[in-house]
Amino acid sequence: MVVQEVVFNHMRIILLGPPGAGKGTQAVDLSNKLNLVHISTGDIFREAIKNKTSLGEKAQGYMNRGELVPDQIVAEIVADRIQKNDCSTGFILDGFPRTDVQASLFDQILWDQKMSIDVVLNITCDEQLIISRLTGRRVCKDCGATYHVTNIPPIKEGICDHCQGVLFQREDDKKDTIINRLKVYNEQTASLIDFYKQKNILVSIDGSLPKEETFENMMDAVNSLN
Ligand code: AP5
Repeated sequence: MVVQEVVFNHMRIILLGPPGAGKGTQAVDLSNKLNLVHISTGDIFREAIKNKTSLGEKAQGYMNRGELVPDQIVAEIVADRIQKNDCSTGFILDGFPRTDVQASLFDQILWDQKMSIDVVLNITCDEQLIISRLTGRRVCKDCGATYHVTNIPPIKEGICDHCQGVLFQREDDKKDTIINRLKVYNEQTASLIDFYKQKNILVSIDGSLPKEETFENMMDAVNSLN
């Protein structure tokens, strides 16, 4: 039997979940598979820091401490980004919204732009696993590809498979900062699970499985939307 895949004309997805649950890893694969723009607010800030822009200056302290960048700044960036032409067929938001205020601001932004979110994929993962994932995460300094020293290692240690760039450890992936990020997630972000549950668009996905299995479960959730 030939299983027919559903092709969507528009798809707007939010990836929710604690730091290290696998949002970025899954967003890359989903965006390739579904041909959607991947918008990571964390990546936008890291790029701004690298380029020493005023946004980067504003964000750096918060990020290094594992705190959240102020809501208004993040919301404005996302509002601008989703209006760009490449988002006309949809997008995957990775790391936004992250507070009740951001979620309300985003509802208003979506309303103004006559858009809606199709699904919120909430990636779950327990804290011990998160700590081992984040302490072992390595990122390519050139293309941003993400690896894990043991779970998802590069072919050649310390070198990116895709572009041969050097891999480094993120400043906020030190254990104390990870603990603070988890605390911030529990205090400021976890409430969004109920927020989107009440809108009937939340699907929880087990992020502790091997990445391919998590991906398949996410695709099942997306395909079942039709
Ligand atoms: P951001 O970059 O968004 O970080 P985060 O949410 O803390 O998420 P992470 O990138 O740490 O984790 P992830 O879930 O993407 O996991 P990954 O796929 O990499 O934000 C950073 C900072 O920017 C924030 O602290 C804040 O300061 C600021 N910021 C960003 N957005 C903001 C907002 N909206 N408001 C305010 N401030 C904001 O995976 C982790 C590791 O696990 C990797 O090594 C990976 O290879 C491995 N892995 C992934 N999946 C699997 C698997 N299934 N099995 C085994 N290993 C796996």
